[in-house]
Order: sequence, then structure tokens, then C-alpha cells
Amino acid sequence: MAHTKEKVLIIGAGGQIGVELTETLSALYGHENVIPSDLKESGAFTKNTFERLDALDKTALFDLVKKHGFTQVYHLAAMLSATGEQNPMFAWKLNMESLFHVLDLAKEKHIRQIYWPSSIAVFGPTTPQQNTPQYTVMEPSTIYGISKQAGERWCEWYFKKFGVDVRSLRYPGLIGWKSAPGGGTTDYAVHIFHEALKSNEYECFLSENTALPMMHMEDAIRATIEIMQAPADSIKIRGSYNLSGISFSPKEITNEIKKHLPDFSISYNPDFRQAIADSWPKSINDENARNDWGWKIKYDLPKLVENMLANLKK
Ligand code: NAD
Ligand code: SER
Repeated sequence: MAHTKEKVLIIGAGGQIGVELTETLSALYGHENVIPSDLKESGAFTKNTFERLDALDKTALFDLVKKHGFTQVYHLAAMLSATGEQNPMFAWKLNMESLFHVLDLAKEKHIRQIYWPSSIAVFGPTTPQQNTPQYTVMEPSTIYGISKQAGERWCEWYFKKFGVDVRSLRYPGLIGWKSAPGGGTTDYAVHIFHEALKSNEYECFLSENTALPMMHMEDAIRATIEIMQAPADSIKIRGSYNLSGISFSPKEITNEIKKHLPDFSISYNPDFRQAIADSWPKSINDENARNDWGWKIKYDLPKLVENMLANLKK
């Protein structure tokens, strides 16, 4: 059930997910009730009040929460898998400390509900790669994945110890046309559309048969809002839910793009991100999300490709 009186803070709102989430939440709760925040203003928010915020600054965060009286915080600020490997100590600091600040806000009853995203990066090379279950071996090999796995355990701990209403999804690679990706291993699946339309060719940093779990951004935003609106007793997992969209390789998405742009060509030049991709699942089992709070995917690969090309052409 939607809360009619939500007042929402989005931390890291200027990123790939935040821009679209701000838009959708504003349509739901009103622009005046949704406050995007980030390290710097991106110009993406013309109708909302933007607040500059460093998520590592606990005092500034608490002051902001007191100023606006937020009920919900969507905490998106993080360093992703590829950039995290370039700056591991800072990735750990940012991803963990900022999460503690938000969890503490809810523990001290300043806010009612938290959304914090996890990732398929919580899995590692020893995890079964096909139809990866919710509960399985998890030995992540990136600092990003280690921080997300630790974050999941902390979220569950705050829920069990203090009743903090924190909800989380293990997003696959997200693909949208409204905003640019921010340093992940799955970013190729967004770049490929821009390059296809610009120059009809793309050099991919992953090899042609590297299948990964992916999802259209619209589906991811809908899942985010659905889990936040679900009755508390339907949320059985307070670490993070597996969430499955579609699974494809660079070769498969290329073949789908070629149905629209027959002259499009791709070449492969794998870099350090190949090892990260090789350590992740190829497809995800999300039956817990489907059973607990009714999750259902809308976009398959043909629909996703059609939608991306049509919108980017505009
Ligand atoms: P992004 O890199 O595009 O955006 C992150 C935003 O956080 C940026 O705008 C950045 O300026 C901001 N930020 C960084 N440090 C900050 C700080 N100290 N204080 C305030 N803001 C800060 O990332 P995204 O793709 O939008 O991802 C958002 C969240 O979703 C992350 O937690 C990420 O791990 C998770 N996630 C994303 C994907 C994906 O495919 N995009 C998949 C799985 C999980
Ligand atoms: N899309 C993200 C990344 O590649 C997965 O969390 O880092």
C-alpha cells in the first residue's frame, strides 16, 4: 500500500538509477516530497529541490533528515565493481560507512524505512552460475561484491536487533536510456546502444559469449517501489532478494540490435572487467521475490532492445 505522506530522500540521486528513481517517485508522491541529493548537482532535477550531500558526512545527513522530516531514504551512493577495483580502500569506506549512517538514522527512529541496493556481485567464482539460487555459496572476488555482501548481513542484523525496516534487491546489470552508467562491469550493455546509433560499431570490453543477468531500468525501478510498498510481513528476507530479469551475452544482444540496424558490427577487446564478469552468475533464480511480494518481469531481450533504440533515437 502506498503511504500518502511519504517524504523521500534519495542519496546518490545523480547516478544511473537515481535520476529515474527520482522521476518515478516524484510522480507517485509529488515533486515537493522527493528530495534528490548527491555530491554535486547534475542538472537532472528541474522540478525537485536538490540538496548537496556527502553520504560520508553523518552530521550533514542527520541535519538534512531533521530539516525535511523524511520518512524514507533510498541510499544509492556507492562505488561500483569496475571503479571499486581501481580504488579498493575508498570503495570499502564509501560503501560501508554511508550504509551505517543510514541504518543508524532508522535505528534512532529518525526515518521509518530504508531502501539499499545490493548486487549480483555478492556471488563469486565458487557460486553455481546457472539459475543461481537465493541461498548458495557466496565468495565475492571484488571489493564491491565484498562490500555488498557485508552490507546485506548488516541490514539483516539491524532488522533483527533494532527492527529497522530495511529492504533490498540484488540488482542485475541495469539498462536504461535516461541516464549514463557509473563504472560497472555491465555498463557495456548500455554503451552498445549509444555507439550503435552513433557509429554503427562498438568495441566491447567483455568477450562475445560472456552471459550476465541484466534488466531494463523500468523493471528495476518498478521492483524497487514494489518491494518498498509491500506489507512488512511479506518481506521475509532482510538481507537482499535475488532479482531476475533476462540473461544475454554481448553476441546475443548484438544479434538483437542487428534486427534493427543490420549493418551494426561489434569487435571484442576484453580488459580487467572480463575476470569480474567471469566470476558472476549467468542467470538468477528469483522465486523468493516472486513468491513473497509478487515480483514479475516485463521486459524480455527483444522488447528491451526495441525500447532502448526507439528512445535513444529521439
Ligand atoms: P552510479 O555510479 O551511476 O551513481 C552513484 C551516485 O552516487 C553518483 O551520482 C555519485 O555522484 C553519487 N555519490 C558517490 N559518492 C557519493 C557520496 N559520498 N555522497 C553522495 N553521493 C555520492 O550508480 P548506480 O548505477 O546509479 O547505482 C546505484 C546503486 O545501485 C549502487 O549502490 C549500486 O551498487 C547499485 N547497483 C547498481 C547496478 C547497476 O547496474 N547500475 C546494479 C546493481 C546494483
Ligand atoms: N552493474 C553493476 C556493476 O557492474 C552490478 O552491481 O558493477
